[in-house]
Amino acid sequence: MTYDFDAVIDRHGTGSLKYDCAERRGKSADLLPMWVADMDFRIPQEAVDALVARCEHGIFGYTEPDDAYFAAACSWIERHQGWRPDPETCTLTPGVVFALAAAVRAYSEPGDAVLIQPPVYYPFKEVIEDNGRVVARAPLTYANGSYGFDATEFERVVSEERPALFLLCNPHNPVGRVWAEDELRAMGDICLAHGVTVVSDEIHADFARPGFAHASFASLGEPYVSHAVICTSPGKTFNLAGLQDSNIFVPDAGLSERFRHAVAAAGYSQLGTMGIVAGQACYEHGEDWFAQMKAYVEDNIRLTGAYLREHAPALHLVEPQSTYLLWVDCRALGLSEDELHRLVEDEAKLWVDFGDIFGPEGEGFIRLNVACPRSVVERALVQLAGAVARL
Ligand SMILES: Cc1ncc(COP(=O)(O)O)c(C=O)c1O
Repeated sequence: MTYDFDAVIDRHGTGSLKYDCAERRGKSADLLPMWVADMDFRIPQEAVDALVARCEHGIFGYTEPDDAYFAAACSWIERHQGWRPDPETCTLTPGVVFALAAAVRAYSEPGDAVLIQPPVYYPFKEVIEDNGRVVARAPLTYANGSYGFDATEFERVVSEERPALFLLCNPHNPVGRVWAEDELRAMGDICLAHGVTVVSDEIHADFARPGFAHASFASLGEPYVSHAVICTSPGKTFNLAGLQDSNIFVPDAGLSERFRHAVAAAGYSQLGTMGIVAGQACYEHGEDWFAQMKAYVEDNIRLTGAYLREHAPALHLVEPQSTYLLWVDCRALGLSEDELHRLVEDEAKLWVDFGDIFGPEGEGFIRLNVACPRSVVERALVQLAGAVARL
């Protein structure tokens, strides 16, 4: 079937973090929300049908996924993410951030350092600090408008700060990098040499743009994979964030036991019924929807780049290699962080994620989510460019 991603579906009144929580979050209700990483698109019809059928049954007791669930998840990952996971090594968690926090507790002690590469998805820092660990930072390089990985600096931080684990964002949110196999291997070699466990957050794995291919940390094979936790999820791929279903693969038996213990110690055992139903249906039947959605988002990304180049050339779109989150360098405007906030919120009337929440390296940047109908992207761009033109 052909999906209509142009349809503007009113999400107000659904408890949506993006649409219903502005004032609670200290934002004006009239801002156009372009921030949190979910999509304004209905999920595949087969998944809606599966959820409705399950609802009609009317009993929602404790639920465990069966073999068909794991077969569907592993088959999707093999076909789309380039490696074949073993279902026996999978632990289900109610989200990837939950898994990151569990990994921090499983593989480090209070006071230990945990390595990240800022600017990076801000819950990485939060799960480290909220668990009484210390952030070790090996920032990405940024030159000529694009991001890279500096092995020398990474190794210096690892050898000086001795992190117990490394939270890798693969692909990287917010800068949109798809890490190449040789970059992953370089990170892996340094981590292995220093006994650092690698936790690879691959929630955006399915979003590599044309010309780029996601490389899972797991695809490096042995010995890397035996020192790693691979976090996967249908949450971003199929817009299921509210249903909390994640598949975390820990190939090494010892690391797996510690991870499962940390999940159990948090008091967690069974996933929500609906997450399992929707996850399986999407993995089994979501191929067509996913291809159409990705093509639509690709056009939104291209439109954004072209529009900014023409109407607000001082704003540089860091060309993403993956994700539907666009990282825009606004530093050529010469504004302070407060002035940038005022420009975007008071003048452009947009609710975005400001770059500084991803680390000080993100100051002067904004992150825009373009997984929404084209008319919404166009409106956001007109508002943003208009505000810049009035400066
Ligand atoms: C890199 C990354 N990891 C994890 C998450 C959230 O995952 P979950 O909702 O499964 O906790 C996001 C959401 O934006 C993300 O970008």
